[in-house]
Amino acid sequence: MDETEENMNKKDTNYGNWVPNKYVYIPGLIGMLFVVVSYFYYPVIILAIIFLMITMYTSYARAQFAPEGGDLQVKIQNLVLDELKWDGDGKLLDIGCGNAPLTIKALKQYPHAYATGIDYWGGMWDFSKDVCEKNAEIEGVENRVTFLKASASDLPFEDESFDAVMSNMVFHEVKDSADKKMVIKEALRVVKKGGVFSFQDIFEEKRIYGNIDDLLDTIMDWGIEEVNFIHTSDYDFIPRSLKLPFMVGNIGIIHGRK
Ligand SMILES: C[S@@+](CC[C@H](N)C(=O)[O-])C[C@H]1O[C@@H](n2cnc3c(N)ncnc32)[C@H](O)[C@@H]1O
Repeated sequence: MDETEENMNKKDTNYGNWVPNKYVYIPGLIGMLFVVVSYFYYPVIILAIIFLMITMYTSYARAQFAPEGGDLQVKIQNLVLDELKWDGDGKLLDIGCGNAPLTIKALKQYPHAYATGIDYWGGMWDFSKDVCEKNAEIEGVENRVTFLKASASDLPFEDESFDAVMSNMVFHEVKDSADKKMVIKEALRVVKKGGVFSFQDIFEEKRIYGNIDDLLDTIMDWGIEEVNFIHTSDYDFIPRSLKLPFMVGNIGIIHGRK
């Protein structure tokens, strides 16, 4: 593929943004409404300022994540693939694939691999199975990928079905599992013995996962041969303003071999 063709592909694909548009315009509209109300009742101006500041922050974050801005989303996604120590032979699963940026990138990196992308879709994001399929077609990998609607809490696969399993920023979102550690366990269930995995999530959020060292010990106790952790939030390419707990402040990668 020449450079012009690749640039055209980039333009046509839609990998979405982790900060959906509505997170920018809804607080903006509420803020404007409070500005109007404050003409009649002055103290409401405080609420107007708060909502307009939220809009400024979310639009800044959206721009930082976008490819035409800071391209942070791609940089963070790439780390998952970097830590997947795989030879590319066999079957790969992407859990919570969104619009499939990582699934497709992996297929391009591993020309002999076959991938499955699962997601529950719907919810707060504008991601969908249709867009995944369209992206795969544009990128020329449609014959090596299947997309399925399923929940990460109950994967519709036999034990040890995949040579490699990855996931990016999904596990804490899985509403049908109260204990998010069980989502990690479910993901590891479908990795073949000797297969590899790389999961990125807000693993340093103690309220969700507890202490990170205890979490890694628990995973080892499940019979996993090798488990490593990377503090993604330490990377300098992430602006400090986005290292807040509700953004990407507590993210890290758990990777290894089963
Ligand atoms: C922050 S997005 C990340 C998407 C994608 N991995 C990426 O890197 O762009 C979180 C994703 O988790 C998915 N998700 C939420 N709950 C899920 C569940 N129970 N099972 C599978 N996916 C789920 C959402 O639909 C969304 O696509």
